[in-house]
Amino acid sequence: MTRPRILAIESSCDETGVAVVVGGRRIEANQVASQVALHAATGGIVPEVAARQQLRWIVPTLEAALEQSGAGWDDLDAVAVTCGPGLIGSLLVGVNVAKALAVAHDLPLVGVNHIEGHIYANWLTETDAASPLPTEPAFPLLCLVVSGGHTQLVLMHDHGRYTLLGQTVDDAAGEAFDKVGRLLGLPYPGGPAISAAARDATPTTRFPRARTAGPYDFSFSGLKTAVLRAVEGYRARNEPIPVDGIAAAFEEAVVDALATKTLAAARDHGVAAVALGGGVAANDALRRSLDERLRAEGLSLTVPPAAWCTDNGAMIGAAAGFRFAAGDRADAALEAIPNLALPWLETA
Ligand code: KG4
Ligand code: ZN
Repeated sequence: MTRPRILAIESSCDETGVAVVVGGRRIEANQVASQVALHAATGGIVPEVAARQQLRWIVPTLEAALEQSGAGWDDLDAVAVTCGPGLIGSLLVGVNVAKALAVAHDLPLVGVNHIEGHIYANWLTETDAASPLPTEPAFPLLCLVVSGGHTQLVLMHDHGRYTLLGQTVDDAAGEAFDKVGRLLGLPYPGGPAISAAARDATPTTRFPRARTAGPYDFSFSGLKTAVLRAVEGYRARNEPIPVDGIAAAFEEAVVDALATKTLAAARDHGVAAVALGGGVAANDALRRSLDERLRAEGLSLTVPPAAWCTDNGAMIGAAAGFRFAAGDRADAALEAIPNLALPWLETA
């Protein structure tokens, strides 16, 4: 597919991403301005600050992406943008810029759900225009989306057709990493910091796995409390806190919960393949464990490179490419919706 060539904008949280993606798959440009260093100072995201930074970085990131791709406005077929879920102030920056660009350059507008973007990161490739594209993920595809705001097991029947099989009943996986990172005195964001601390460490304990009502649901708040109790125990005994060992025990518990439920859902629904997406999908231990356990069942796992797991514009361009091809168009009434859900099919 040499078309559509889509300019895609992602501004739902603390990364400003702009990309040019062809045919929903081939990345021509992908620029991301991250606010991670800024939020590290406050130990987490301050929404007001995130929104102002989106405003600060959207134009330079857009210019960098256009320059990288070499595409002119006449070469583009549409402008796509994340319209939710996310932080309202951050979302509004991308949505308004996308609308202005679409009007100014007389291009169609496509609104993309951020979660759908994380799923479609599995379609992305950097293959050059002259070479054949790698094989696409096969349907029915089981998607584990694990980010700072969401933890969902999604059964994808075909492009744009989803059933929600399960989700977290409390904290998202990334949120748990970030909160436990803070508890352990590690820098923000907790995910990469815990992963680095845990790498060569032996777990200090085996934290209990949560029981949930739904077979494919997750719960991480009990685990977070268990880590807090462990830390308090060391403090009360005036013992040094074995940060690396606790990080390893925590990571092991999260990875085990995610892999166990994913495996059960894959088995029960007879899926063709499994795909991983979202910032926590950058976690090495999760990638390794899921791959091993699925392979033992004869199932294959698709995982985007780490840079496409965390928020970026290319994943929005991928989802938009398939939406555009299916005739999906937004207009000037496109709204930023903080709690936007995927359009779930009613039956499993
Ligand atoms: O998808 P994302 O960039 O933003 C949201 O949509 O939320 O995900 C960010 C989350 C953060 O909670 C961060 O700690 C987590 O992804 N994360 C990781 C790793 N890299 C990022 N968690 C575990 N291990 C990692 N290597
Ligand atoms: Zn995300």
